[in-house]
Amino acid sequence: MSAFQLEPWLQARGARVEALLADRLRRLEAAPRPLVEAMEYSLLAGGKRLRPLLCLAFAEAVRGGPPGAAAEDAACALEYIHTYSLVHDDLPAMDDDDLRRGRPTSHKVFGEAMAILTGDALLTEAFALLGTGPEPRRAELVSRLAQAAGAVGMVGGQVLDIAEDRPAEEGYLTRLHRAKTGALLRAACTLGVVAEGGTASQVAAAERYGDAVGLAFQIADDVLDVISSAEAMGKPTGADAAAGRHTYPAVLGLEGSRAKARALVDEALGAVKALEPTPGPLAALARYSVERST
Ligand code: IPE
Ligand code: IPE
Ligand code: MG
Ligand code: MG
Ligand code: MG
Repeated sequence: MSAFQLEPWLQARGARVEALLADRLRRLEAAPRPLVEAMEYSLLAGGKRLRPLLCLAFAEAVRGGPPGAAAEDAACALEYIHTYSLVHDDLPAMDDDDLRRGRPTSHKVFGEAMAILTGDALLTEAFALLGTGPEPRRAELVSRLAQAAGAVGMVGGQVLDIAEDRPAEEGYLTRLHRAKTGALLRAACTLGVVAEGGTASQVAAAERYGDAVGLAFQIADDVLDVISSAEAMGKPTGADAAAGRHTYPAVLGLEGSRAKARALVDEALGAVKALEPTPGPLAALARYSVERST
């Protein structure tokens, strides 16, 4: 049997994610048109879709076939939350960035008030979407996603990131990255398993994998901010150093950061050996999260 090829898998599942997101947005026809347009502008602007792809990959691994409706809603809800976090992250009061996913940022196009409200709507609609449906497991999906996105998860991590007195030490940085980026990526993995009724040991495997990939992914983001270009990334680079932001390369150096990311990928691969005995999408996505060039 030939080795698993990630590229065709990404093409097929990526197209599915785009179709799901467009479909869910069409349900908002009763909302004010300018709001839906601003939501579409940021949500349908591309992006790697790593969170929904991880969710679908775990769901497939557990189910042994195409994911069910709850997993597909979870995939969309994760991308809604992620996109809201980007819209707010770019605001003048936060990172004050002009470019996102290769386009002017939301507040540059629609104004700050609309960008704030767009984020609010994406955040809220994520839970409306995930909580609606006949499957009893949806309550657990909502609870897990809320914890990952909230005060002990992504929002808490953003607060650690903007703190004036943050110490330049690895322990603080790891805590920050695990909250700001790791929590949502970990939830992406576990939601896929929970949506398909996976066992406790499958949930634990997804948590271990998600913890490792979540941290590795943000380390790669910090490294790419140093070595890549705005053209390749579709967002400004060199911004972290310019803003005196706390990053892995600043604390461990570029090589130290890369070594740390590689070790985390190995940890992730070890965690999913039982779920994926022959290396497939889970193994390939772990590698992709740090070997990516955008
Ligand atoms: C960017 O996330 C923000 C971080 C958490 C590092 P992504 O690199 O996943 O951004 P998109 O979704 O591909 O635009
Ligand atoms: C943001 O981290 C993570 C979020 C929770 C949005 P960054 O500020 O490093 O993300 P980019 O580099 O702007 O995408
Ligand atoms: Mg930021
Ligand atoms: Mg930013
Ligand atoms: Mg960054």
